[in-house]
Amino acid sequence: MALLKRYGIYTAIAAFFVYILYSLSFPYQAPEGGAPRPHDQNGESAPKEPQRPQHPQAPPKLQSYDWAKIPIKNPVSSMIPLPTGSPVPLPKIQFDFKPEEGTAKNIRETRRREVRKAFERCWKAYHERAWMQDELQPISGGAKNAFGGWAATLIDALDTLWIMDMKTEFRTAVDAVAKIDFGTTTLERVNVFETNIRHLGGLLAAYELSGENVLLQKAKEVGEMLYHAFDTPNRMPITRWNFHGAGSGKTQVADEVVLVAEIGSLTMEFSRLSQITNDPKWYDAISRITEVFDQQQSKTKLPGMWPIVINAKKPDFTEDTGFTLAAMADSLYEYFPKTYALLGGLNPIYKKLYEESMKTAIKHTLYRPMTPENADILMSGFVRGEESQATLYPEMQHLVCFTGGMFALGGRIFENEEHVKIGRKLTDGCVWAYKALPYGIMPEISHLHACPNMTSCEWDEQIWKDDVARRADLGNEKDPMQNIASQRLPKGYTAIDDRRYILRPEAIESVFILYRITGEQQWQAAAWDMFTAIQQSTQTDIANAALIDISVTDSSPPKMDSMESFWMAETLKYFYLIFSDPDVISLDDYVFNTEAHPLRIPK
Ligand SMILES: *[C@@H]1O[C@H](CO)[C@@H](O)[C@H](O)[C@H]1NC(C)=O
Repeated sequence: MALLKRYGIYTAIAAFFVYILYSLSFPYQAPEGGAPRPHDQNGESAPKEPQRPQHPQAPPKLQSYDWAKIPIKNPVSSMIPLPTGSPVPLPKIQFDFKPEEGTAKNIRETRRREVRKAFERCWKAYHERAWMQDELQPISGGAKNAFGGWAATLIDALDTLWIMDMKTEFRTAVDAVAKIDFGTTTLERVNVFETNIRHLGGLLAAYELSGENVLLQKAKEVGEMLYHAFDTPNRMPITRWNFHGAGSGKTQVADEVVLVAEIGSLTMEFSRLSQITNDPKWYDAISRITEVFDQQQSKTKLPGMWPIVINAKKPDFTEDTGFTLAAMADSLYEYFPKTYALLGGLNPIYKKLYEESMKTAIKHTLYRPMTPENADILMSGFVRGEESQATLYPEMQHLVCFTGGMFALGGRIFENEEHVKIGRKLTDGCVWAYKALPYGIMPEISHLHACPNMTSCEWDEQIWKDDVARRADLGNEKDPMQNIASQRLPKGYTAIDDRRYILRPEAIESVFILYRITGEQQWQAAAWDMFTAIQQSTQTDIANAALIDISVTDSSPPKMDSMESFWMAETLKYFYLIFSDPDVISLDDYVFNTEAHPLRIPK
């Protein structure tokens, strides 16, 4: 179990659960090189997951289910309705931008065009070589289908096309979307979370921006499909869902081992679908999950937060002891303030869930890393909660970089300046982490040294070296004498556990939100450094590729043949938006789902 080595002993139990999840014949085939999915439901283990033997495949079922017509076996006795009343006006989210002067505008516009060019290149390559497939392979020019074969990249990039004013390409893409059949797939099991954030989120956002009815029609088809994953006796959804079993009328029961982000990150898309269609059933479906989160919030081993692994069958969201804002939990927390906004501020439960969980997260998951610059920054790590004790492990995941934006946005929505400050320091943490590496890109997973407190922290080279040595000792396969040079550790980093950069968006996402909220140009400068660094290292002859090792010094970082759909859906969109006029997709009008699809806030 390579997973244990990668994570260290402290996540052994969580890792074990995840391992069990894998053994239950997951549908998801780790793409070549093991690029994980954005929220890393299985990403940590994917790279080292043993290749599954290639059993002769049964011929794919070509039957197409009309999900809207398949009977529900466990109907609800009464629907939970959408909250009624006029939306409560939210506080102003964005900075009150003044007209910019000529030079600043010229620089910004040049940069915006550069980002657009990078996107155009990737879109063209996808169109020519992988049209209607889930992903383009940016080195070989081939294609991959790990998300159901429903043109994941195409659907994910629709709203980016619109925002970048590539209207001709947008029309072509919309015509193609009309031909996608969500009634069939070659996957055995569908990942409900991924289908929700990429396909449902992508279609809803593109519909809202363009008003193209076929996109709403397709969003409904995806919604009807996913609704069947909720057809269990206790109405908890199956997150790794047997598509054909459900389609052919098999009985379903919710799972005992579920990743908390996968069950907790359906609220935005399902709420918006109910609002747009005036059919409450999707809102009803997610509200039943929200009730469990609410009832059990104070009963977990780290009260306020929920563990990474939960039991949906009971349902019991309190048993496990591993807590984090990072992989496998992340968007659960991100969605509380955003869903609150999306529901017009009319359901206070999401405010309570956010405020209570963030109290705990601030107290237990945040730490100040020791850096040579004595930088006043924050990071969010992993916590083991046991017997009323909480132990912090100062991990740093690229995925956790979304927290800066979450705190800043949550701080604005709920008028909590402390959260805006925390959001700024967390975002500064990721900007620091990028700059510390030789190619200006931070790794997927690493460790830092946590200062004893957040008030002040002097760099101490010996403390850092001792921590590196201690950490190198932890992995029993590692040579205890392994030194900083051979690990290629920049000062401040105590270990790099996963050296990849897979074109992820979370750092630029928070930088973008901080820019729109504070109006400070330093964020645009940080964004440009990130963009040029990423563009420089990831460009291939046809598009952009994930990196295997961002810490090399003697050559450029080696690449793998993978370009996940979030590169065009999220990373390039946020880069584009930070260099656009602040009125373009204003944070006062939209909330972004966790795949960067903007959903309109009802006014
Ligand atoms: C915080 O930790 C530093 C050691 O890095 C120490 O010098 C300082 O006194 C501590 N401050 C507080 C307020 O505890």
